[in-house]
Amino acid sequence: MLSILLVLAKQHVDLAQITVFSLLSLALGYATFYVLSRPHFSALLRLANTLRNIEQGNGVAPSLEAPKGELKELGEGLSAMLAAMASREAKFVAAQRELELKVSEVAVSNAELAATLRRLKAAQEQLVTTEKMASLGGLVAGVAHEINTPVGVGVTAVSSMSSRIIDVRNKYQAGELGHRELNDFLDNTQQHCELLLSNLSRAAELVSSFKQVAVDQSADDLREFDLGVYLSEVWRSLSPQLKGTSLRYDMSVNDDIRVFNYPGALSQVLTNLVMNSITHGYERGEEGHLQLDVRHDGGEVELVYRDDGRGIAPEHLGQVFEPFFTTRRGRGGSGLGMHIVYNLVTGQLLGSIELHSEPGCGVEVKIRFPANIHPGAQTENG
Ligand SMILES: Nc1ncnc2c1ncn2[C@@H]1O[C@H](COP(=O)(O)OP(=O)(O)OP(=O)(O)O)[C@@H](O)[C@H]1O
Ligand SMILES: [Mg+2]
Repeated sequence: MLSILLVLAKQHVDLAQITVFSLLSLALGYATFYVLSRPHFSALLRLANTLRNIEQGNGVAPSLEAPKGELKELGEGLSAMLAAMASREAKFVAAQRELELKVSEVAVSNAELAATLRRLKAAQEQLVTTEKMASLGGLVAGVAHEINTPVGVGVTAVSSMSSRIIDVRNKYQAGELGHRELNDFLDNTQQHCELLLSNLSRAAELVSSFKQVAVDQSADDLREFDLGVYLSEVWRSLSPQLKGTSLRYDMSVNDDIRVFNYPGALSQVLTNLVMNSITHGYERGEEGHLQLDVRHDGGEVELVYRDDGRGIAPEHLGQVFEPFFTTRRGRGGSGLGMHIVYNLVTGQLLGSIELHSEPGCGVEVKIRFPANIHPGAQTENG
C-alpha cells in the first residue's frame, strides 16, 4: 500500500514538474517569438504607416528598414516602388510647372499677337488712305498726261495754221495769191480744224470723265423708277454703237422691279460695260452675244452682265478697276471706264462688284446693290 502511495506521489510530482516545465517552455517560446518577431512587426507597422501616409498624401518615405528574410525583400521592393513613385511624382510636378509656364507664355504671346493685330489694322487703314491719295495723285497725273496729248496736237495744229495764215495774207496783200494756192490753204485749214475739233473733244471728254471719277454724287438725281424698263431704254440708246457690229444682245428681268435709286449711275455702268465688250471683246465684224440678267433678291438687285468675247488675261484681271489701266493706250483707251464703274457701284449705289474672266471665255460682271437708297446714305456710310 505504501509503495502504491509512493508511486502515486512520485507520479504527482512528475506531473507538476511536467506542467511547470511546459508552462516555462511556453513562456520561453512566447518570449523568444516576441523578441524575434518584434522587429518584423514594427517593420510591418512602419510599412503600414508609410502606406497610410502616402494614401493621405503626406509625402513618400524613400526607404523602409526591415529585418532580414522575406520581409526585408518586401520592404526593399516597396522602398523601390515608393522611390519610383516619388521620382515620377517629382517629374509630374516638374512637367506641370513647365506646362503652367508655357500657358503663361502663350497668354503673353496671345496678348502680343492681339496688340500686333491692332497695329496691323491701324497700318492697313493708313495704307488704304495712302493708297487712295496715291490713286488720286495718279489720277490727276494721268489726266494731265492724257490731256497733254490732244492739247499738244491742238497747239501744233493752231501754230501751223497761224503761220500759214500769215503767209497767205502776205501773198494776198501782194496780189500773189493764186486760185490753186487759196484752195490748198482752205483744204489745209479745214483738215487742221477737224484735227483741232477731234483733239479738243477728246480733251473735253477726259475732263468730263475726270469729273465722273471724282463722282459728284449730288449731281445725279435719286428717284423711283422701273428698273427693267429703264435698263431696256439704256440698251436701246446703245443701239447706234451696236449697229456696226455683229453682236446680239438680250436682257432678262425676273420681276417688276421698282427701285428708288440713281438711274444716271446705272446707265453709266451699263454703257461702260457694253462699250468695253464692243471695244475689247471682239474683232471687227466678229459675231458675239451680250447678255444682261436682272434679278430682284430680297431688298437687293443683282445685275449679271456677260459677253462671250476674248476675255481678260489673268495678269490684267486684278488691274481692270485701277484708274488708267488700259490695253488700248494710244488707241483711244484712257483706262477710266471700269474705274468709274467701280466707284459708281461701291460709292453711289452702295453695292459690290465682282469681275470674272478667262481668256477665250468672255467676261462676267456681277453687281449687287440695294434696291432702295435713302437720301444721304452715302455720307452715313462714309
Ligand atoms: N469686256 C471686256 N473684254 C475684254 N477686255 C476687257 C473688257 N472690259 C475691260 N477689258 C479690259 O480692261 C481694261 C480696262 O477697261 P476700262 O474700261 O477701264 O478702260 P478702257 O476701255 O481701255 O478705256 P476707257 O474705258 O477709259 O475708254 C481694258 O483696256 C481691257 O483690256
Ligand atoms: Mg472702257
